[in-house]
Amino acid sequence: MSIQRYIAANSPRFLDELVALLRIPSVSADPKYKEDVARAAHFVKEKLLASGVDTAEICETAGFPIVYGEKIVDTEAPTILIYGHYDVQPADPLELWDSPPFEPVIKKTDLHPEGAIFARGSADDKGQFYMHVKAFEAMLAEGYLHCNVKFMIEGEEEVGSENLDRFVQQNQEKLKADVVLISDTSMISLEHPSVTVGLRGLAYMQVQVTGPNKDLHSGTFGGSVANPINILCKMIASLHDEDNRITIPGFYDQVQEYDAEYREQLNKAPFDLDEFKRKLDVEETYGEKGYSTIERVGIRPTLDVNGIWGGYIGEGAKTVLPSKAYAKISMRLVPDQDHKRIAQLFEQHFQAIAPPAVKVKVVPHHGGQAAVVPTDSIGYKAAEAAIQEAFGKKAIPTREGGSIPITALFQKVLGLDPILLGFGLDTDAIHSPNEHYGVANYLKGIETIALFFKYFQQLSQEAKQ
Ligand code: BES
Ligand code: MN
Ligand code: MN
Repeated sequence: MSIQRYIAANSPRFLDELVALLRIPSVSADPKYKEDVARAAHFVKEKLLASGVDTAEICETAGFPIVYGEKIVDTEAPTILIYGHYDVQPADPLELWDSPPFEPVIKKTDLHPEGAIFARGSADDKGQFYMHVKAFEAMLAEGYLHCNVKFMIEGEEEVGSENLDRFVQQNQEKLKADVVLISDTSMISLEHPSVTVGLRGLAYMQVQVTGPNKDLHSGTFGGSVANPINILCKMIASLHDEDNRITIPGFYDQVQEYDAEYREQLNKAPFDLDEFKRKLDVEETYGEKGYSTIERVGIRPTLDVNGIWGGYIGEGAKTVLPSKAYAKISMRLVPDQDHKRIAQLFEQHFQAIAPPAVKVKVVPHHGGQAAVVPTDSIGYKAAEAAIQEAFGKKAIPTREGGSIPITALFQKVLGLDPILLGFGLDTDAIHSPNEHYGVANYLKGIETIALFFKYFQQLSQEAKQ
């Protein structure tokens, strides 16, 4: 197939272009980077045009813009909508990076003998969505593009995709397609290629516990009024029982339970528990009783404190009984939990368990529903066929613990099957220092995406007849 030759011949430039994109610090969460986020949007638009789309535009929103571009080759042909995000997570803590997060370097590692690109956003999601731009270029240049393509690359995924939600609702005609293809997830390994068939939902809360109206001397007042940090810790500790189940009343009401057959299937995926523990430097795993690690991450809901603060955390010792304590708490959700209902249940429960000695404020942040991808669709079969040809292996369906809240919206509003064809690895350190993306993953991904297009067109054609 000359697509492979095209990719091989152009791979240095494909890498250079990605490196240029990674140099732009498009951190959506931090207002300091506002202009850089806008610059990244322009970069994406220009590269779409250079790669051969008919039209590309920057669609302004109340927040960061959405880059939209399309190439219609034949109005009778199937249309593939590509979704990705050009925004990235903040890079802190900077001191833990071996090289600056926005000065990409390619280094060889044990896992990546052909090299990996180290930079914030390399795997999540610049390196992944950019594979689509280059697969598109290759198909077009080699005369292999037989599907229409629509690109929708947003700049607010890492902060909750609020404006994309509106954009999708308001542009249903423009976004009309036969499938939505997303590369923003992981695979087990290049030896064990997998397709993600489920993502968890999310409900993210911030809580504030107030004791006395000001910080007090912990000797003069200690023991006579509630310490909000002590209380907050107690409250948080009570959110799990001894089996590590979440104690919020009604929390599990909507949770879909899976039968033994499904669970057995899920647990067949290659997974080395000892290696998992070794890599994380933990003696033992920890989680809900009665479930394997794969299940705990893939099909069970969780509650985690993401951050907790209050009182004195400076040098030395200061005796103080603080007035306030805070925590950020996230819950990963599974089908059919509704993130708004869960946020409500959390708030009610958290208020209910607070002793009268403190006041509690609960503020919900963003959330999103879990998503499940059917495996009997043309899109899934095309993904399987593409992986079979590119890797010579059968794709393993996996359920991942992360969240892409917009996936469920594509299903609901646009009625599309989402195909989660990601090429990252769990070891890529996304959202963490030294994020990286394998050069081999990048190039293999481009090839697999081109094959997806080929099979999606073929299978759609066959289904019509
Ligand atoms: N690409 C990730 C989601 C992901 C990571 C899926 C790994 C599967 C495997 C995405 O950019 C992300 O970070 N999502 C956030 C939620 C979002 C609302 C901030 C998450 O999962 O925490
Ligand atoms: Mn992502
Ligand atoms: Mn992310």
